[in-house]
Amino acid sequence: MLVSPVLMSGVDFLFPLVGFFCSHLSPRSVFRFCPWVQGGPVLVVGSRLCPPPSSDSSSLFVLSLRAEQSSSSREMKCRAEAVSCLSWVLVVGGAVYLWHQTRSHTEYGRYAPPGSRCCSARLGWFLQEVPSFLLPLLLQLLTEEPGGGSGRTLLLCTFMLHYFHRSFIYAFLTRGRPVPLIIVVSAAIFCSLNGFLQGHHLLHCTQFEHTWLTDARLAAGFLLFAVGMSINIHSDYILRSLRRPGEVVYRIPYGGMFEFVSGANFFGEIVEWCGYAVAVWSLPAFAFAFFTICSIGPRAYQHHRDYLKKFELYPRSRKAIIPFLL
Ligand SMILES: NC(=O)c1ccc[n+]([C@@H]2O[C@H](COP(=O)([O-])OP(=O)(O)OC[C@H]3O[C@@H](n4cnc5c(N)ncnc54)[C@H](OP(=O)(O)O)[C@@H]3O)[C@@H](O)[C@H]2O)c1
Repeated sequence: MLVSPVLMSGVDFLFPLVGFFCSHLSPRSVFRFCPWVQGGPVLVVGSRLCPPPSSDSSSLFVLSLRAEQSSSSREMKCRAEAVSCLSWVLVVGGAVYLWHQTRSHTEYGRYAPPGSRCCSARLGWFLQEVPSFLLPLLLQLLTEEPGGGSGRTLLLCTFMLHYFHRSFIYAFLTRGRPVPLIIVVSAAIFCSLNGFLQGHHLLHCTQFEHTWLTDARLAAGFLLFAVGMSINIHSDYILRSLRRPGEVVYRIPYGGMFEFVSGANFFGEIVEWCGYAVAVWSLPAFAFAFFTICSIGPRAYQHHRDYLKKFELYPRSRKAIIPFLL
């Protein structure tokens, strides 16, 4: 039985979650792989049977798997509704998460209950962050450049640089304790959605003019991104240096931005994504920056309170997340 009429492109096949989320598919819908349809292969939505081989797939409700031959058909279409839908999910989700964190602790790191830890921090960080590197990379490889692509590639590489570092460098250097399954799963879902959103929007929905390369927003955004990423990496390095391998202790961090705030790594990450949003100047990028503020801002507060409670000698002039202010 046909449950919901949807016609999707290869982009959605790469990421069925988006199709699911934004096309209101019934949970009873089924996907049937049909290699022999004219113009196929395709995934037919809502039917357990393949149509006859002579059927023209363009008249079907399908997830297309076709490797199109003509250059125009290889350009993936911008899914403007999905982009806007996911961006607003980030904004609303971020606000709800912020509200939730003002009421209860997120159970990770030092706050996770002892029985909840599922895998090593290294594996956890790698698995949860790598989708944000791989999905944009895959989209980039599948996209044929219709021109004006250097700006987009530059910005996409900026985004991927962060996630390359987080998945392949940070993950393997961390001295953190094992992580809870719920954190890994929810972060992996977030990184998949966001990796797709940022990659698809940059590659298939934006056109940057040549003058944009000299735009002040781009320069300011890149500068902020670079400063934020440096602070983030340096602060994570300071935290790592507080422990010897195998040790599980918490000490007072000193140096760098920790002289001003307890959540120096979070501050760096927030600056980084705000810079990225300024450089890209798009709804998805601002939505991601907003989500980051909502997600890790409260963590800095949590740590700040924890330090003040644990350490009598904790520097009283230090703020939680914004130097001299908050
Ligand atoms: N964009 C986003 O939405 C987002 C979300 C989450 C995280 N992040 C980024 O991911 C990175 C790690 O995040 P996180 O939440 O794990 O940061 P965190 O709570 O500051 O912990 C970072 C690491 O340092 C250890 N650590 C923290 N404080 C310590 C202390 N006083 N003494 C000794 N070791 C200490 C932690 O060990 P334990 O794990 O054993 O406590 C952990 O391995 C940060 O750079 C953050 O910005 C980004």
